[in-house]
Amino acid sequence: MLEQKLELPSNFVITIDGPAGAGKTTISRFLANKLGYRYLDTGALYRAIALLALERHIGPADDRKLAELCKELEFKFSQSGDQTRLVVNLRDVTNLIRTPEVSMMASAVSARPVVRQCLLDVQRRLAEGGGIVAEGRDMGTVVFPGAEVKFFLDADLETRALRRWEQLRRQGVKSVSFEEVRDQIAVRDRNDSSRVLAPLQPAEDAIRIDSSKLSVQQVIEKMIQIIKERNIEA
Ligand code: DC
Repeated sequence: MLEQKLELPSNFVITIDGPAGAGKTTISRFLANKLGYRYLDTGALYRAIALLALERHIGPADDRKLAELCKELEFKFSQSGDQTRLVVNLRDVTNLIRTPEVSMMASAVSARPVVRQCLLDVQRRLAEGGGIVAEGRDMGTVVFPGAEVKFFLDADLETRALRRWEQLRRQGVKSVSFEEVRDQIAVRDRNDSSRVLAPLQPAEDAIRIDSSKLSVQQVIEKMIQIIKERNIEA
């Protein structure tokens, strides 16, 4: 079922929000591929700011420096085989932004209004023309409130932590225990959901899917079904 493309208008925006480890990245990629759409990983943008802030010793609450930093960055996504690469000011940061340290810093800087405001414009520019599957925390609520289809993808904490831990091990990171990964995700969940601006929460018109007991294939099938229904209604 994944080989066959689904005919959709070329300008739909589909949003997938949800907590860390819910499967957003895998699902968004598959879905974008299936639809012949682009894929926008907005978490990567927050991660890139976090990486540069760490390198330049900018604190997570230093709004002035964070704003300056964000404004000087030019983000470019490119597709290389199965991988989406992120180039920031001509430097490929794809692998550098996936460390646990950057994850925690990304969660911290993403709570700063100056950073969110700066990335709001960046995200909308990157999505110009539609035909995109955008994943993040506030895609359906803040960045693309008019999106044609909105999903909120969730899974229980243990499942999400296990997925993340296995992913890290596949990438060769063997130094982190399952418990550490789980505790880190729990802290990020708390940060991301409790911040004042654009907290992680489903849009009112989002369709919620719990992926705890579903395979990637099953989640995609559910989504395709929903998208087809929306397309007929549109
Ligand atoms: O999806 P991710 O784990 O790569 O995201 C990294 C951090 O960025 C996450 O802790 C919350 C933040 N984020 C956000 O606040 N809004 C988004 N649209 C995407 C990510």
